[in-house]
Order: sequence, then C-alpha cells, then structure tokens
Amino acid sequence: MRCSLLLLLAACTGSTEALTTADTPDDSSVSESGPDTDPPAPRPALPLLVAATDEDPAEGVLEATFRAAPTTLQVGGEAIEGFAYNGQYPGPLLELDVGDTLTVHLDNALDTPTTIHWHGAGAPYEMDGVPWQRTPTAPGEQFTYTFPVERSGTFWYHPHFDTARQVDLGLYGMIVVNDPSEPAADVDLGLIFDSWGESNDDPHDHGLEGSELLWTVNGALDPVHELPAGSVVRLRLLNASNTGYLAIDTTDLLVLGTDQGVRTQPWQTDRMVLGPGDRAELMGVVDDVFHLQTHPYSLHGGATWGDPTRLLTLQPTGSGTGTLPSWTAPELLPTEEPGRTDITYTLQGNSEGGDWRINLEVFPEVTIAEVALGGDVIVEVRNLSPTHHPFHGHGHAYEVLSIDGVAPERRRIEDTLDVGIYQTVRLRFEATRAGDWMQHCHILPHADGGMMTVLRVLE
Ligand code: C2O
Ligand code: CU
Repeated sequence: MRCSLLLLLAACTGSTEALTTADTPDDSSVSESGPDTDPPAPRPALPLLVAATDEDPAEGVLEATFRAAPTTLQVGGEAIEGFAYNGQYPGPLLELDVGDTLTVHLDNALDTPTTIHWHGAGAPYEMDGVPWQRTPTAPGEQFTYTFPVERSGTFWYHPHFDTARQVDLGLYGMIVVNDPSEPAADVDLGLIFDSWGESNDDPHDHGLEGSELLWTVNGALDPVHELPAGSVVRLRLLNASNTGYLAIDTTDLLVLGTDQGVRTQPWQTDRMVLGPGDRAELMGVVDDVFHLQTHPYSLHGGATWGDPTRLLTLQPTGSGTGTLPSWTAPELLPTEEPGRTDITYTLQGNSEGGDWRINLEVFPEVTIAEVALGGDVIVEVRNLSPTHHPFHGHGHAYEVLSIDGVAPERRRIEDTLDVGIYQTVRLRFEATRAGDWMQHCHILPHADGGMMTVLRVLE
C-alpha cells in the first residue's frame, strides 16, 4: 500500500499531533547555577555547522581544501587544545547533491601523519583513506581525495590513522548528500554529538562510558536553537564519540532513515540507539518547545536505569502551526534469509587487557577473507564479548537480514550496526567494488586495540 505521510501518520497513531514536551527534565538537572538566588546560567545557542568553501564554481562539483592543524577548540564553553580542519570545530560541512563530485585537498599541518576516511559515503578503494591502501599523508604534505557521491544520506569524515586520538582531538565533520525527491524541511539541522568525560583531567580522553557521559552538540553543551513556530525540521544526527552510546527519545519524531539515508517509508519508534559512528535522520513539526533527549545507555549492558538527559532544545518563536510534508517512498521488505554464510566474524575481547579480536586475530595480523566481484555476500557477526560493538564496514553498506534470528520490519541498510552483547547479526551485501575493505568495531579504542580485519573483493 502507498499512502501519504499524513495518512500514514494518522493510520499509525490516530493523530497528526506535533512535537510535545512531555517528560522533559527540569532545568535544575542540567544548569550549573548555584544557590536559588543565582539566575540560571544562560544556555548557549546551537552552533550551526559551517559549510566548506567551494573552490570550484562549476555545478556538480564541491572542491575544498582541508588544512589539518593544531587548534584551540571551543567545546562546552571551554578552550581545548585539539586538532581541526581549517580551524573549524566541528569540521567544515560538505553538502552536495547526488551525483556531484567531491574533491578535498588535504593539507597536513599537523606534526603527525593523517588521512581522511569518508565514512558511509561510498568512496572507491583508492580514496578510502586507510593506511592499508596508501601511506598516510606526512606532515607538510598534501593529498587530493576525489570521488562522485552516488547516494543521498548523512555521512561523515574522519582520519583513519591513529584514529582514536585524532578523532578525539576534533578531526571530523558531516557530509550531507541531498536528493531533491526527499521530503523538504523548513529547517535542516546537522547535529554532531560527542561525549566528554565528566571528571577527567584530560578533556580529550573520552574514556568514560555509558550513562556517565557529558554530551556536546556541535561543540555546545545543552544548547538552544530558535526557529519559527510550526517549522518542519529535519534533524541529521551523528554520533562522533569514540565510545559513547546515545539512546535518542524519538517518541514525537518520524524516522526518515538511518546510516544510508532515506530508503523506505518513514516510521515511528520510541527510541533509537546510536553507537559510535551511527547516524539517523528524523523529522517533526516544532509547534511547541521541544527537547531532544537521550536515555541512559551503556556499552556494557544497553539500556540502564535513570532519567533522560536533555541534549538540545528547539525553541519556537512567534506563533504558527505546521504540517509534515506528504511524501511517499517504497515500502521495502528485508531480503529473504538465504540460509548460507560466506564469512563469519566473531568479536571477542575484554576491557582489562585492551586486547580486542575478530576471529581471535589482532589487526594487522589478520586472515583476509576473499569474495568475488559481483557476488552476493552473507556475513554473520557474532559478539562473544561482554560489550556492545558497533560493527562498521568500508566499501559496501550492509543489509541487515536478522538480529538474533529476527528479521527487521522493513529493509534496513547500515554501514555501522550495533551488535549487542552475545548477539548474532546476519548481514548481506552485493560485492560491487573491488578493494581491500576494512571491517571493524567503531568503538575506536577497540579498533586501535585490534578489532579490525580486511575483506577483499577480488577484481
Ligand atoms: Cu568511521 Cu573505518 O571508520
Ligand atoms: Cu568494540
């Protein structure tokens, strides 16, 4: 059945109500004010992502220079010595249309080698930014990345060398690839979340896990964003944290898509877990004050007790009401379980040793799995460790066939998939791109600790 979004909403919920403010934490839980007599500290405005300067006026090309250099970052109202591209934190927003060509000249002004990986954006192997493929760009050197963006969605970029440290220091940004056939929003917001240890002397060390984290949005703590009442908003969420999990309350929002953009009809769900590296696209109408919240969630056990934390407030100005655009997308069902497995990855390790393995191997001492170009590949990932792992594949996105034997309700395409404790997930992809593609856990200390392997698609 095909129906408009409004009809779909009405059918699903019996109402077309806009966002509400139910269950929001009161200000005392997040403000830093002292005794009752002090006025509460004003909340910061949401910093908007700043687009990269396009050096090529031609249509269909976005060409930018990224100078990676040590920079003083403003994070949560504090100055932090980090790394940035062009002095910007978060890094420049790369916004393109489907079919455009992205060209980025990396200019390394750091005192250490670096690379750029285009997480989820479908770069070819020569542009993948992994040291396995090409020697990282040395200090003082340049390298040009260039490739066409072939599908719409919300992706990101970050170094893939000394990754945990360089990402932690601030080297990352968002890629938005637009498709004019997707539902139009009045306000389209890129929101990059990062987590910072609350009681840690080294602000770069995101060592704390689960519900103990302090989250920033585009570098600001608990910001407010004003917008005209009745605005239709599209929120593009990216979890850029090294280890922290978000469990976003999506009760009053529609989910447009996940890692690989809008693929099916939007749907509703109460909560969306975003592990490190994950993205989600959400849509809603802001008639009233709306608080975006995360529930406590730990990589050591999933949902935990406790009140939700406010991440961001959308504050309407004036009066007005809006309606969601009517819009249809295909209703795609999951591919039928083929009943065979081509590659199995078992994830093992423990926090004590810092030793994290795939099939008992520690990267780079790994066995390379080989598959033929053009074939359909079935991958089974088994988590045999007492920790979640967001499993990320380069080169191809995965269709999720099942999680612990249960197929998803609709076709689900991810490049980063959280694999819960002792869970087994079955994935499928079509091997359309030759190359030696990294497969790894996106908890970056786990990846650096060895939880990474290579899948070779033969020419
Ligand atoms: Cu976002 Cu292999 O990485
Ligand atoms: Cu992991």
